[in-house]
Amino acid sequence: MKKVKTSFFCQNCGHQSLKWVGKCPSCGQWNTFVEEEIRDVSPGARAELTFNEKPLPMDTITSDERERLKSGIEEVDRVLGGGIVRGSAVLVGGDPGIGKSTLLLQVMQRLAAKGLKVLYVSGEESARQIKMRGERIGATSGNILILVEVDLENIIKYIRETKPAAVVVDSIQTVYSSHLSSAPGSVGQVREASERLIIFAKKSGIPVFLIGHVTKDGSIAGPKVLEHMVDTVLYFEGDSGHSYRMIRGMKNRFGPTNEVGVFEMRDRGLVEVLNPSEYFLAERPEGSSGSVVVPSMEGTRPILVEIQSLVSPTNFGMPRRTAIGVDANRVSLLVAVLEKVCGLRLGSHDVFINVAGGVRVTEPAVDLGIISAMASSFLDRTIDPGTVVFGEVGLTGELRGIHQMELRIREAERMGFTRCILPRTTPREAGKFGKIRVVKIRNIRELIENLF
Ligand code: TYD
Ligand code: MG
Repeated sequence: MKKVKTSFFCQNCGHQSLKWVGKCPSCGQWNTFVEEEIRDVSPGARAELTFNEKPLPMDTITSDERERLKSGIEEVDRVLGGGIVRGSAVLVGGDPGIGKSTLLLQVMQRLAAKGLKVLYVSGEESARQIKMRGERIGATSGNILILVEVDLENIIKYIRETKPAAVVVDSIQTVYSSHLSSAPGSVGQVREASERLIIFAKKSGIPVFLIGHVTKDGSIAGPKVLEHMVDTVLYFEGDSGHSYRMIRGMKNRFGPTNEVGVFEMRDRGLVEVLNPSEYFLAERPEGSSGSVVVPSMEGTRPILVEIQSLVSPTNFGMPRRTAIGVDANRVSLLVAVLEKVCGLRLGSHDVFINVAGGVRVTEPAVDLGIISAMASSFLDRTIDPGTVVFGEVGLTGELRGIHQMELRIREAERMGFTRCILPRTTPREAGKFGKIRVVKIRNIRELIENLF
């Protein structure tokens, strides 16, 4: 009998090792190695894994850019780069309970409403449970076929038979192939299942959505290789305490990355938020100190967010610096800059920073917002509610230009703001603006002069 060949695989990143090791040399995670059989591609799978195509001259290939399938949910289409590309594989990741199944069922309903037949494969819920969710969000079309199945061979067989316009596999971690002896959800199984489904998608032209679970640290569970194999990775963000949800394109072979779609989870499913700036500023306190608005770029779209700060005297010893929604190290750095350059004695104060609404902002453009909010709270003076600020702050307190200044100013103007404070290095792009007054400053000393 042939000896079964095995090897150890890191369940986090897919790194292979001949021996068991405690710490993965590739991703640094502990206790992630599991012994798995090394796959010998089965004849059935091998036939599927080959394309059998001949080399083609470039000019004879037809590109079907215009053939994108519109889901009709604008926020989804935009994140995908203008619609669903035929034959593409899209990985949708996010925490449990955030709304992945809900969103994809809504997308399938839109396609079904156009008369297209779609297939929803679930290995997590029964047909009845899916129907209950469907009734809740109005997705009950007969064009949606529900298949409760975890066997990869069967799934592919039914996709072949039904020839749907799109397929959802919820979730990829539940799918297993009987050709492999490793357990469902292991690296080997996830890789095999996604590889086969992706190749099938490419050959048949049927777009496949793979729903993926996410580990505690936020990466898509199972092999990182999955992220490399698919065409597009969409990641669901948002926390359970807030009703807004964002889907972010982390990778996209057919469109811009980092594009976001904003949704609100209601009792009838996810509803698009068409004016995110208005949504995130809805509960802004006007006339209190420690609050300022920053136009932040999310992908190609500017969104106005409110930065809040609370600076209060420290009671015991070490002052605290707490940041929610922005990088904590950045806040410590900006506290030091504000103290040194403007002489505000923050050393004996606790500093708390929060981005209202539970949004996360990672770009340096918010630096000026953090500085403004801290100064406002420390001095207990309010910032005029019609003002927005943005710009990167350097260690000497100087302001640095950032990208897409004009778009940010236009968004602030559209939302009725009357003054925008920004770095002086603004290139000529920031030309004439109608109702909004543009104030260009060089450093944060000038900021304090202009703010209050
Ligand atoms: P679900 O799509 O099942 O999440 P996932 O597939 O990512 O695990 O979403 C489940 C959550 O969404 C659950 O907490 C209930 C909530 N929800 C609503 O608030 N409104 C709705 O209309 C639906 C269908 C779900
Ligand atoms: Mg689900």
